[in-house]
Amino acid sequence: MAHVTVTAPINIAFIKYWGKRAGGETLILPTNDSFSITLSTEPFRSKTSVVLTDKIAEDELWLNGKKSDFASTARLTNVLETVRATSPPELAKLKAFIVSENNFPTAAGMASSASGYCALASALVRAFQSTADVSVLSRIGSGSACRSAYGGFVKWLMGKEEDGSDCRAVQYVDHTHWPEMQVLCAVLKGEQKDVSSTKGMQLSLQTSPMMKDRIETIVPARMEEISKAVTERNFDKFAEITMIDSDDLQQVCATTIPKVQYATEDSYAMIRLIHAFNKAKGKRVLAYTFDAGANCFMFTLKENIAEVIAVLLHHFPTADESLCFNDTSLVASYK
Ligand code: DP6
Repeated sequence: MAHVTVTAPINIAFIKYWGKRAGGETLILPTNDSFSITLSTEPFRSKTSVVLTDKIAEDELWLNGKKSDFASTARLTNVLETVRATSPPELAKLKAFIVSENNFPTAAGMASSASGYCALASALVRAFQSTADVSVLSRIGSGSACRSAYGGFVKWLMGKEEDGSDCRAVQYVDHTHWPEMQVLCAVLKGEQKDVSSTKGMQLSLQTSPMMKDRIETIVPARMEEISKAVTERNFDKFAEITMIDSDDLQQVCATTIPKVQYATEDSYAMIRLIHAFNKAKGKRVLAYTFDAGANCFMFTLKENIAEVIAVLLHHFPTADESLCFNDTSLVASYK
């Protein structure tokens, strides 16, 4: 019986993916390039086990202890069909029993779909001996998941082709390039968000007046500038662009109709605190970024970690109840 277990990391984008070009929810091709860091699988990760068998009638997926309704999830079906179409026939005819689990708050801006689909794609490819590319397969599960297939600093290039053949994730530099870089996460009340990122970006693309410039000029320029900052390990520049892009995503959401808001009062308190801290230090030593959720991801250099954690815990008004820190170092891909 073929069986496999895979662990996959989350990735945090500092230039955000927000919008799909033609190909919609099936091909999942972005309207702009994005850029991220892949984190270590400690403490946060997704873990997926797959067993292939002829003893069950249908594929079965258990997600965080609950049985998933396969038929209603087009993306899962799409992923499985793609795997089977690229697998040896004697394996493709078997059914998959899948157990998947994340050890962090799901649907709270913690990139659960990214690591989740990457772990799933990788486990399926191995179990079915598929020739499909793990990153591409992860992408058709959830766009941002394609970046989790590589370690270090990863770009997701939007490509131009309609069939998505030139849309792919590439490692820009590996985890050894900037070992001082650290990522922290302040988990700010893991609420279930009311507008998914999928829905939010669809609405933004249709209604936000900021999207056109973001796609056509702003992000391409930012990608170039931040690539240089990463190459040169220029933290100040990296931090500046990261925070601007995060702010822009929130502005895009605020100008979307109906308005989308992921940040909470706690998120804004974090932003104010980080700006005040940088000001006191006389340079940028800490940068924040927010996805489609309230949680605050932060970047800093190793030399600042102790001070940063102490300052944030000390000043954050509700630290005891709602704040936890995990310093997460950058590591290689799980592959
Ligand atoms: C804000 O990858 O969750 O985290 O492709 O529709 O599944 P779908 O969306 P998803 O969007 C993530 C958006 C983001 C930014 C990013 O990770 O680049």
